[in-house]
Amino acid sequence: MSDYPAIIQGGMGAGVSNWRLARAVSQLGHLGVVSGTALDQILVRRLQDGDPGGHMRHGLAQFPVREMAERIEQTYYIPGGKQERTPYKNLPLHSQNGPRERDELCMVANFVEVFLAREGHDNPVGINYLEKIQIPHLPSLYGAMLAGVGYVLMGAGIPVKIPGVLDRFVHHQPATYPLHVAGAQEGEEAELSFDPANFVTEKLPPLVRPRFLAIISSNVLAAAMLKKANGSVEGFVIEGPTAGGHNAPPRGKLQLDQSGEVIYGERDQVDLDKIRQLGRPFWLAGGYGSAERLREALSLGAAGIQVGTAFAFCEESGLRNDYKQAILEKVAHSEARVATDPSASPTGFPFKVAQLQGTLSELEIYSARPRVCDLGYLSETYRTPEGKIGHRCPAEPLTVYVSKGGKAEDTAGKRCLCNALLATIGHPQVRNGNITEAGVITSGNDLSTLNRFLPPEQLTYSAADVVAKLLSV
Ligand SMILES: Cc1cc2nc3c(=O)[nH]c(=O)nc-3n(C[C@H](O)[C@H](O)[C@H](O)COP(=O)(O)O)c2cc1C
Repeated sequence: MSDYPAIIQGGMGAGVSNWRLARAVSQLGHLGVVSGTALDQILVRRLQDGDPGGHMRHGLAQFPVREMAERIEQTYYIPGGKQERTPYKNLPLHSQNGPRERDELCMVANFVEVFLAREGHDNPVGINYLEKIQIPHLPSLYGAMLAGVGYVLMGAGIPVKIPGVLDRFVHHQPATYPLHVAGAQEGEEAELSFDPANFVTEKLPPLVRPRFLAIISSNVLAAAMLKKANGSVEGFVIEGPTAGGHNAPPRGKLQLDQSGEVIYGERDQVDLDKIRQLGRPFWLAGGYGSAERLREALSLGAAGIQVGTAFAFCEESGLRNDYKQAILEKVAHSEARVATDPSASPTGFPFKVAQLQGTLSELEIYSARPRVCDLGYLSETYRTPEGKIGHRCPAEPLTVYVSKGGKAEDTAGKRCLCNALLATIGHPQVRNGNITEAGVITSGNDLSTLNRFLPPEQLTYSAADVVAKLLSV
């Protein structure tokens, strides 16, 4: 257990925990985790922005299949960057069977992010995925493993079949993954499949099998994971409801307080006795970003903590600078506020939203945005009346969603997080030459306490400042 990290910098999608942040944390001897969400889009948008610093092209040059990486560079790289008012290229949407271009992009983009995070040091780097975003899983995992990822962390679903995929990819064997299809009938099980041999023809040596950590919010789920997983699960991240990003829905009936926020109660507490009995290392997450709470976690038998919010606003994170500065200003003036929104996310999970002018936290900005769904990561896969597979998202235009069998009431308050989260890391889509997508900032309840990392009279701090504070006595 001793070579497990005491601090995990949590995966933060999309692109907030980028290679730069994960590298900084891993270089300090802790576990830096890149977000694996939407990396295909992020890679092609960075290339269309002119690839400042040349990092993407440097990563692409290391990919084992040269022609594939070159094709991507030739298709998307724009020297000097695209014009501000020019839209980014649309990618073909992901579907159960490819298309091949998307599989290649996922594989290569995951490779590049992990490769860059690992460069210049020998410590492990992790990658984080949301189980719910299933279609890109297989090529993404294979690409990350080709780059030597040390840990795979996955939450927002029950990833019982991921460990077996990791085992197969060690030997470049084909793998399958069950695809959840809403409304599927008995005997209609759908699956995703990926055969590395269709993409990499050169004979490569076996890959390292990354450790797999499941992110869960109940001891029942942890026990179920160990019982049902089709391969080894090395540990658990136990995430409470104050954590940034998506939160597990509360147990029992959904109740809201006067301001419309989700209420969590006693039943949402994890029974740590039961977790300890499972005999696997575990990390506590959600409001653990301080030296006191790290000590507390260790005294409770945890291997350490997973921290998100404190790292999300540090210099190395992918969050765009104007948002970072504006939020840290609010923190410095004790005005920062986060709400747990029950309906913002198309996934149906509660989602934490930091309040900031000019972002989707404001009703006027949300209401003014024409509903468009052109990225599709959070869309639900469903069975059409003809027995085919379709995709629908409650943040897409209402009539379209309803025509696909979705319920009108499920669309209320839904934000297009795919477009907003890409805007939040500085790659907003531009529509009709004049509408620029606004961002949305997610953060844990720890936001208001971030001033403990700010040096006097300053509005920036580094990942090293966070780690030093967490380890202070
Ligand atoms: C900006 C942001 C984005 C996040 N995105 C993800 C994500 O994509 N996947 C995930 O498993 N957790 C995500 N999280 C949760 C973190 O990985 C971590 O578990 C959590 O932030 C820990 O609680 P804390 O915010 O109180 O430190 C996100 C958190 C933040 C702040």
